[in-house]
Amino acid sequence: MSTEGQLKLEWAREHMPVCNLISERFRSEKPFKGLRISMALHVEAKTGILALILKEGGADVSLASCNPLSSDDSVVSALRNNHGIDVHAKKGIDEDTYYKYLNTVLDRKPHLVIDDGGDLVKMLHTNRTDASVNVLGGNEETTTGIVRLRAMEKDGILKFPMFDVNDAMMKHLFDNRYGTGQSTLDGFMHATNLLIAGKKIVVAGYGYCGRGIAMRMRGMGGIVTVTEIDPVKAVEAVMDGYTVARMNDAIRDADIVVTATGMKDVVSYDDMLVARNGIVLCNSGHFNNEISVSELNKRAIWKGEVRSEVRRYKLDNGNTVNVISDGRLVNLASGQGHPVEIMDMSFAIQALSAEYMAKHHAEMQPRVHQIPAVIDDSVARIKLESLKLKLDSLSESQVDYMNSWGEGT
Ligand SMILES: NC(=O)c1ccc[n+]([C@@H]2O[C@H](COP(=O)([O-])OP(=O)(O)OC[C@H]3O[C@@H](n4cnc5c(N)ncnc54)[C@H](O)[C@@H]3O)[C@@H](O)[C@H]2O)c1
Repeated sequence: MSTEGQLKLEWAREHMPVCNLISERFRSEKPFKGLRISMALHVEAKTGILALILKEGGADVSLASCNPLSSDDSVVSALRNNHGIDVHAKKGIDEDTYYKYLNTVLDRKPHLVIDDGGDLVKMLHTNRTDASVNVLGGNEETTTGIVRLRAMEKDGILKFPMFDVNDAMMKHLFDNRYGTGQSTLDGFMHATNLLIAGKKIVVAGYGYCGRGIAMRMRGMGGIVTVTEIDPVKAVEAVMDGYTVARMNDAIRDADIVVTATGMKDVVSYDDMLVARNGIVLCNSGHFNNEISVSELNKRAIWKGEVRSEVRRYKLDNGNTVNVISDGRLVNLASGQGHPVEIMDMSFAIQALSAEYMAKHHAEMQPRVHQIPAVIDDSVARIKLESLKLKLDSLSESQVDYMNSWGEGT
């Protein structure tokens, strides 16, 4: 019996009312009976609950981590030893082991795949086409994975339908914004034990994640500047009360930079050369290439750990730069990931989309599909129910009014 991880699973489950309600139905209907589901997700307690509810729905589940630093070993052990889940993850694995684990879950020749970032699906289309023979379809969790899937669809090589879970309203409106907002601060504070109030903070990217991070950094008293490449998002940041600047200008005066763009080299080595001595850099975007850590590793004249999750680099101009968790997702590598209630909604979307895919894959083209509105709607209704909040509804005459074009003055 693995106690620590089991307690984390129980705590998560207690705070996931939407997933719990779905799992009650799954237990009686068994929508995944006879299906193998291979998943690559951040292996921590909330993901554990998703694995368990799919299993309760009849699936044979295999789980690998989608990031070398985001696994919680106590949860891995509880899932494996207490619940018989086939799980392959360990915090701090190297790249070879990371791909070995992805290969292992693909060896199961899954019927459904649930991916976060697109590595699993990419492998099914390149070096592991042998493992794709049974695949009916799958789900992708995050913005970066969707970008990759759309590129595959454009090149005409996508072999099976994939659901764009990220673009479900009940996912990105809350997960990317409030989830990343809160958990990025949690990861930053845990890694550094530094104050945010009064600090000059640059947030790169004003998409859903960037908006959440900027909002929470400001809430803690940070003075926030946003960098963007999209003029509309930049205007939105201005209207929300932030300064907008280019990275190479903003970084000169910054204490902290957080990237959340899904783009590589957003903080380049040249940017670091003009940064303040002692700046702290971290990333909340999916991959560890938003901060040019590989360039930093090549060009810095000295590096060393200054805290367990912070590496300091000395540049050839004499200044130092501190990078949290090697530029990997700070909220997962140094924090506990999104709050439980957020992942309750994101994973409810995952579970219902997987069920829809299991039932309707034959009618779906091999491309990226939007989540049916009925799934968003049902997750929102269950969430409101769990909060004991009630909605108004339109009267008949209001429906007539909405459908008429003549009434009014
Ligand atoms: N940390 C987490 O837990 C978590 C959660 C959800 C998504 N993500 C990841 O975070 C990243 C962003 O996701 P999102 O949903 O906010 O995406 P988004 O598309 O809503 O926003 C990204 C923004 O970055 C801007 N951008 C792109 N290149 C830039 C550059 N060079 N400089 C400044 N801005 C730039 C874009 O114009 C866009 O506004 C993705 O990699 C996504 O997979 C992480």
